[in-house]
Amino acid sequence: MQKPLAPLDFDLCRKDFGTDFVWGVSTSAYQIEGAYDIADKGASIWDTFTAQKGAIFQGQHGQIACDFYHRYKKDILLLKELNIQNFRFSLSWSRILPKGKGQISQDGIDFYNRVINFCLECNITPWVTLYHWDLPQALEDKGGWTNRDILGWFKAYVKICATLFGDRVKHWIVLNEPMVFTGAGYFLGVHAPGRKGLKNFLPAVHHATLCQAAGGRVLRSEIGDATIGTTFSCSYITPHTNKNRDIVAAKKADALLNRLFVEPSLGMGYPSEKIGILRQIEKYKRPEDEKNIIFDFDFIGIQNYTREVVKHSFTVPYLRAKIVKATKRKVETTLMDWEVYPPSVYKMITKFNEYKGIKKLMITENGAAFKDTIIGGKVDDPKRMDYLQRCLKEVHRAKSNNLKVSGYFAWTFTDNFEWAEGYYPRFGLVYTDFSTQQRIPKTSGKWYRDFLQSM
Ligand code: BGC
Repeated sequence: MQKPLAPLDFDLCRKDFGTDFVWGVSTSAYQIEGAYDIADKGASIWDTFTAQKGAIFQGQHGQIACDFYHRYKKDILLLKELNIQNFRFSLSWSRILPKGKGQISQDGIDFYNRVINFCLECNITPWVTLYHWDLPQALEDKGGWTNRDILGWFKAYVKICATLFGDRVKHWIVLNEPMVFTGAGYFLGVHAPGRKGLKNFLPAVHHATLCQAAGGRVLRSEIGDATIGTTFSCSYITPHTNKNRDIVAAKKADALLNRLFVEPSLGMGYPSEKIGILRQIEKYKRPEDEKNIIFDFDFIGIQNYTREVVKHSFTVPYLRAKIVKATKRKVETTLMDWEVYPPSVYKMITKFNEYKGIKKLMITENGAAFKDTIIGGKVDDPKRMDYLQRCLKEVHRAKSNNLKVSGYFAWTFTDNFEWAEGYYPRFGLVYTDFSTQQRIPKTSGKWYRDFLQSM
């Protein structure tokens, strides 16, 4: 077969990563599905949050998003056209259980059955995320992630998904980036449900780590042959200067951003030796939690977009550390104002390889938002393509150095709703014209297609 297009000095073929390396794209329910109130679907915290004045760029929301709910067939056919054999998507909890618990929505179940079955018909393997940030509002009304009852709610939800879809779905991801949904949603208040402060953050963290492991156990007991993973956001962190106080600050930021959720699941506890305030999690612990927080995942998904430079700060409570914004460092940035820094991918693979308890490692998200323009019906996106190619080189470097890494999922398939930033930052390999819902594969998408064919 032919070599990839390689327009930007790219000399790797798919076969250079080995024949069993998993290639795919990742998406999430609220960001693509739309049909936010169809049939008996319940509201999620993102429906509520996006309705709040000033919460989202230009008051945008995911009520229609990419309309994947109605267009899933065409989209899955497009995946096939682009040679993408693994499709990661998430289930919307409130589409399956409108009130978060109790009554199941047949319409929701039917929808996901259609998606799963059509993927399989097209020879595309579904990778299902159980929770990608869209908690049912009915559960948030009872305290959401801060209420320990979430453990029971989550286990019941996972059991329903496992029993109804587990005969066909064999690849599962329990949580997507718990650091982001607890940090942005329950500490900073910039994501749904918009809550702030330690009193919300610490219990949310503890209940998320418990659910992470409990979800894994439910899947394991319900689906004998399931491959079970969970995902973590992570960034390579460097101190701003060589001064000791910046080095200490960088280690704290690393504990918070990279270690907080993986280490408890491996039986290492919370990294409270670096961040003393985490000791307050004790308040929310019950004796059996120490062991229940552990789960032997088949794989860990790491999601990397940039690196962070960190310096000491007296004014930041608890952490005494702050991020030096990329825009202040005069480095190349994406539309999210994140530094373009592909070596972070290699560094994170190296870091997670140091955990002996991790059996398999995958990159379950990696990508970049740049300004895209349609010219003559085409979308040429050399910056995104360059970024992705440079990141793949880092993955390849890791493999060549015998580090564990067995899969790569690009974020994302089609441009979609980018949370608090609305529709402005486009991460897709495929351009979405949100006024017509037309999909236009970008140059990066066509390159990925050709790369995936280059055996
Ligand atoms: C999330 C995605 C998000 C992407 C880009 C990840 O943190 O899992 O939902 O769109 O980053 O910001």
